[in-house]
Amino acid sequence: MEILGTGSYLPERVISNDDLSKIVETNDEWIVSRTGIKQRRISDGETTSQMAAKAALEALNDAGVKPEEVELILLATMTGDEAMPNTACKVQQVINAVNATCLDISAACTGFVFALNTANAYLSSGMYQNALVIGADTVSKVINWSDRGTCVLFGDGAGAAFVKANSEKAYVSMTGSDGAQGDVLQAGKISLSNLLMQGEVSVEPDDYYMTMNGQKVFQFAVRKVPEVVRQVVEKAGVSMDEIDYFLLHQANVRIIASVAKRLGVPVEKMPVNLDKYGNTSAASVAILLNEVRREGKLKKGSKVVIAGFGGGLTWGASYIEL
Ligand code: ACO
Repeated sequence: MEILGTGSYLPERVISNDDLSKIVETNDEWIVSRTGIKQRRISDGETTSQMAAKAALEALNDAGVKPEEVELILLATMTGDEAMPNTACKVQQVINAVNATCLDISAACTGFVFALNTANAYLSSGMYQNALVIGADTVSKVINWSDRGTCVLFGDGAGAAFVKANSEKAYVSMTGSDGAQGDVLQAGKISLSNLLMQGEVSVEPDDYYMTMNGQKVFQFAVRKVPEVVRQVVEKAGVSMDEIDYFLLHQANVRIIASVAKRLGVPVEKMPVNLDKYGNTSAASVAILLNEVRREGKLKKGSKVVIAGFGGGLTWGASYIEL
């Protein structure tokens, strides 16, 4: 599989740490020192599909491909517009990709990695020749804006990659999940059927909004990410030194520094944009990939490892040859 084009989209509205300190008891110093986040972009009513469509069009434009040539749209999100139709179908409608088959993939912050894997499996089987792979989340709509432990961490955005079958370009991935630890990170527990079964309509904030055991997520990430990166590099038959860039899910700069240290990799090989955007969930790796490409850091033949981790719990890393 080969990546032919990338794109990303961030909402206009910038929310700084100082802005947040007006709604919860927090401050810039705490947020920057614990996470590295300085600001985030928050949707002003734009939906996940609208952001995803903008990133998708940029990726298609970059690849020089017309929407009607797209055969498959895979959209990773945990904040789809509605239960039905799926959000990938809504993107299809907006961008006019009339010949595509469209489905959503749900794996929180690992979503983009899992979606690329799914594209690779479809392309390798010969079922489709190309795919538009998107990671997009409007995390702000599942955030409890009175919970300082989570509301400072996240942002909204979308990233996309257009990929094409190419047997000469290696794509190798390692993934895992641990459903037994699902309660470490949750959002949207409530559903209409639950309410009807309970026979009452009383919703607590934690039933709907995100809840997180931050320290458990931190420990999980610094243990699992180096492990899965090592596994994928070994499976790809390359050395750690040969990897040009490691594009990690952008949750916390301390997690990224710890992973670099544990792998013995210079931190300069792990680009960071979470200072500008916070944690954009399924979008983060896709946005970073696009930015690193646009900055001219990647050229034909570059070797990249992407890695995601998050709710589920889920994790995965992929080795990609550009
Ligand atoms: N501002 C000020 N103080 C705060 C804030 C805040 N925004 N949030 C928490 N605190 C306080 C706590 O109440 C606590 O106070 P106490 O000691 O009086 O009880 C103190 O700061 C320390 O809290 P900790 O939770 O111990 O802080 P920690 O150093 O662990 O940092 C953090 C918290 C940043 C959340 C860290 O645990 C982390 O980054 N974890 C990973 C989170 C993550 O990556 N989540 C996304 C996963 S991806 C996905 O799938 C969505």
